[in-house]
Amino acid sequence: MHSQTFNAVAVLLLATRSNGHKQKGDACLALSKALPGQVSFPNSTLYAIENNYWSQRQAALEPSCFVAPSKTADVSTAIKILTSLDQPFSVKGGGHAAFPGASNVEDGVTIDLFRLTEMTISADRKTVSVGAGNRWINVSETLDPLGLAVVGGRVSDVGVGGLILGGGISYFSGRYGWACDNVRNYEVVLSSGKIVNASPAANRDLYWALRGGAGTNFGVVTRFDLASFEQGDLWHRSLIFPGQLNTTLIPIFHNLTVNGLPSDPAAHTYFLLTYLEQLGGFAVLTSQFHSTPPPSLPAQEFIPSIFSPFNAVAQAAIVNTTTIANISTVSQSISQPSGSQQIWMNVAVSVASPSASQLLIDIVPLWQSYVANLLSQVPSSNGTQLLTPYLIFQPMSSNILTAMQVAGGNTLGLDVKRGPRMIVQLSVTWSDAGLNRLVEKKTKELIDDINKLAKRRNLDDGFVYMNYAEPSQDVFSSYGRENKDRLKRVARKYDPTEELKRLWRGYFKLG
Ligand SMILES: Cc1cc2nc3c(=O)[nH]c(=O)nc-3n(C[C@H](O)[C@H](O)[C@H](O)COP(=O)(O)OP(=O)(O)OC[C@H]3O[C@@H](n4cnc5c(N)ncnc54)[C@H](O)[C@@H]3O)c2cc1C
Ligand SMILES: *[C@@H]1O[C@H](CO)[C@@H](O)[C@H](O)[C@H]1NC(C)=O
Ligand SMILES: *[C@@H]1O[C@H](CO)[C@@H](O)[C@H](O)[C@H]1NC(C)=O
Ligand SMILES: *[C@@H]1O[C@H](CO)[C@@H](O)[C@H](O)[C@H]1NC(C)=O
Ligand SMILES: *[C@@H]1O[C@H](CO)[C@@H](O)[C@H](O)[C@H]1NC(C)=O
Ligand SMILES: *[C@@H]1O[C@H](CO)[C@@H](O)[C@H](O)[C@H]1NC(C)=O
Ligand SMILES: *[C@@H]1O[C@H](CO)[C@@H](O)[C@H](O)[C@H]1NC(C)=O
Ligand SMILES: *[C@@H]1O[C@H](CO)[C@@H](O)[C@H](O)[C@H]1NC(C)=O
Repeated sequence: MHSQTFNAVAVLLLATRSNGHKQKGDACLALSKALPGQVSFPNSTLYAIENNYWSQRQAALEPSCFVAPSKTADVSTAIKILTSLDQPFSVKGGGHAAFPGASNVEDGVTIDLFRLTEMTISADRKTVSVGAGNRWINVSETLDPLGLAVVGGRVSDVGVGGLILGGGISYFSGRYGWACDNVRNYEVVLSSGKIVNASPAANRDLYWALRGGAGTNFGVVTRFDLASFEQGDLWHRSLIFPGQLNTTLIPIFHNLTVNGLPSDPAAHTYFLLTYLEQLGGFAVLTSQFHSTPPPSLPAQEFIPSIFSPFNAVAQAAIVNTTTIANISTVSQSISQPSGSQQIWMNVAVSVASPSASQLLIDIVPLWQSYVANLLSQVPSSNGTQLLTPYLIFQPMSSNILTAMQVAGGNTLGLDVKRGPRMIVQLSVTWSDAGLNRLVEKKTKELIDDINKLAKRRNLDDGFVYMNYAEPSQDVFSSYGRENKDRLKRVARKYDPTEELKRLWRGYFKLG
């Protein structure tokens, strides 16, 4: 028997025998004996570092300890100890999920994957193996100098794990689908502690399930082998307009989603409304990207033709910046600092029909009165705005939906035949934890209202994107009955004793 395994088993026996039933702290003690140097308690500085999350609502929870395994076998040891002690736990990748308990746990153990920093590139440059502790900036800082990229996150600090396991919208999705569609192999620690691979060649059912099914139901992924491709710098343009122009800009953006994007798979875009006092109140941001700008043409002189309809409103732009830069630079330029309270919710609407443009326009006043209500209860303090709201439109254009099917299809249930969708996403950033309940309640009401409006117009889609969802949203049902049932069967196979189901807290469970 491997000495470390033996050690873990011995500690386990000690821990379980100590007292007929388990006590808080037992698991941390057992873990620290089996995995010396990998467990941190609330009295340590490492604990304070590990308890940093993008959203303050997650950082407010305090696990009994963190365990940060330094290799896959140590993840396996940790899982064996936690399950045999019946100890609730959570798993932290990059810690960017917004809601409390998504990747942290009160009075339980949080497995922090940050030490799994492997990054290797295959000799043929077609595959990059990425340890689950990396952030997207670590991936791009490795790949940029080599002229390579993967279908990954757009923002530097976000973790690879949560983003890929929930889907993963990328700059490159127009050509390749979402991040989950571009994983060649997952290395996974199952609830039994067994380490397996999931790929088209091994455990195919698990390979399918992990493409959108979340880790929570299946296992801890320790390594992602991602398909890589040759890639140079990105073109990026940010245009900011006064909010008043929303009714002019939304039809342009809707047409771009339905007719523009499918004709240029190298293009990528999203649309955002916010309220920022520094910008004079409501403002629209359209962010535009292109992954194959012509070489040696200055950024300002290259405007991909599908984005040219925005030139009609060029005079009105408050900000008009264009750059060509590597992925690391672009992803850092749009990063969002951690440390505030955060909420995210979303629902997709159908946009194939021309009338969807009016639906998107009509969502704006609903959002606008919600914003007025929130801001009236959270007045600025000494010139500092204490709450920032966002309404974001992210296209699932037909080319993205088609690309999702190329590598075998994922679990998301996005039938190409039903046409393009728009993810309607709500996000709020604020500072006072005393407002958490209010913001949560109002945001849920608004999502309901948006859904009802879409239903009345026969433009509801119902898809809820896990990575932008709030825990009250039924993400898996939105994948369709068949996919949800199939996911449940796979979960039963790989977690037969339902240990993950009972003990892995937070995030989206199949039920
Ligand atoms: C600033 C910002 C930018 C974003 N940009 C994008 C974007 O461009 N595209 C996009 O699609 N989404 C984006 N997101 C959403 C993002 O995909 C989710 O927040 C995602 O959950 C973040 O992953 P994480 O590992 O950092 O999060 P965590 O909070 O650590 O994890 C989220 C969930 O995944 C689980 N998990 C993490 N790693 C593993 C693993 N290795 N094995 C098993 N389970 C695991 C956790 O247990 C938890 O349940 C962004 C989010 C933020 C805050
Ligand atoms: C921190 O707490 C742990 C667990 O309670 C304990 O074993 C350790 O001695 C403490 N360390 C310090 C420096 O107080
Ligand atoms: C990941 O990138 C950040 C930012 O460049 C850096 O501080 C950190 O050390 C990197 N981590 C690894 C494992 O390389
Ligand atoms: C990205 O580009 C910037 C600016 O040109 C450069 O300083 C940086 O080193 C590049 N990063 C990588 C990882 O290649
Ligand atoms: C949207 O545009 C309409 C028409 O110009 C305007 O009345 C409304 O205030 C705008 N909404 C926002 C949020 O800017
Ligand atoms: C709609 O999109 C098509 C394709 O990009 C473009 O040719 C056309 O000019 C657009 N129409 C408007 C009104 O923006
Ligand atoms: C942005 O600025 C460029 C010149 O730098 C100009 O050609 C273009 O029309 C402007 N576009 C918009 C939408 O403001
Ligand atoms: C208000 O803001 C000003 C300028 O930023 C600062 O000097 C002052 O100390 C602030 N006052 C309070 C009460 O925070």
